[in-house]
Amino acid sequence: MSVNQPIKKVTTHVLHAMKQRGEKISMLTAYDYSMARILDAAGIDILLVGDSASNVMAGHETTLPITLDQMIYHAQSVVRAVVRSFVVVDLPFGSYQGNSKMALESTIRIMKETGGHAVKMEGGKEITDSIVRVLSAGVPVMGHLGLTPQSIYKFGTYSVRAKEDVEAQKLLEDAKHLEELGCFAIVLEKIPAQLAKQVTESVSIPVIGIGAGPNVDGQVLVSHDMLGITKDFHPRFLRRYLNLYDLIKDATERYIADVKTADFPNDQEQY
Ligand code: KIV
Repeated sequence: MSVNQPIKKVTTHVLHAMKQRGEKISMLTAYDYSMARILDAAGIDILLVGDSASNVMAGHETTLPITLDQMIYHAQSVVRAVVRSFVVVDLPFGSYQGNSKMALESTIRIMKETGGHAVKMEGGKEITDSIVRVLSAGVPVMGHLGLTPQSIYKFGTYSVRAKEDVEAQKLLEDAKHLEELGCFAIVLEKIPAQLAKQVTESVSIPVIGIGAGPNVDGQVLVSHDMLGITKDFHPRFLRRYLNLYDLIKDATERYIADVKTADFPNDQEQY
């Protein structure tokens, strides 16, 4: 593919080629049709139907409560909107850790019922069997290392991971292991930038960072954070491009005022 030709559809091959030629990969979360349509039209490379839907869509404190059925509902809505982006769907907590058969069954449901293009799982060596079994069914797998929110009760906090040598070494080994198993990409969440750079240089598959500094192959953010729909979340790594919370609140206040004063609807806004 020539560098100047627009990409018609993003695939794992396209993403791999982007890493090879040093073109950064853009990724955002999406959970519904209307938002996915806008993000896809803007040219986002990967849309992640993240289990962060548990937080930003359902209002849960953690990602643990969201179910496979709920993830499938979100993914179906996103896939209906997408023309160009590559759609990755998170396997939710409890849908793949039990054993590899469970991982495969959950993945098959996602692939058959949503039309998504790949799944993401959190963890390294400890989920080897599940990754191998899903890959053997021909489904691309994205890994996720560093801060893995499904393990929040093990970590105790959402603070930066792998600051100490032992954990950093394990993360580096896990990343190489995920590549050897055949994962097509890895998300690195909230780890020191220097370690993310080392991982990115040590594997040939794309590494997408969130709070992992600039020396990775691409960046991902939760779209509700990037657009400023969420208000009380201010991690250092987050860049907000809009303040939608205030814009929507202001528009809603003006609508309420117009209704209360009978200014809306006017003569042109009726039949
Ligand atoms: O669920 C999610 O939004 C994620 C991203 C933070 C990578 O896993």
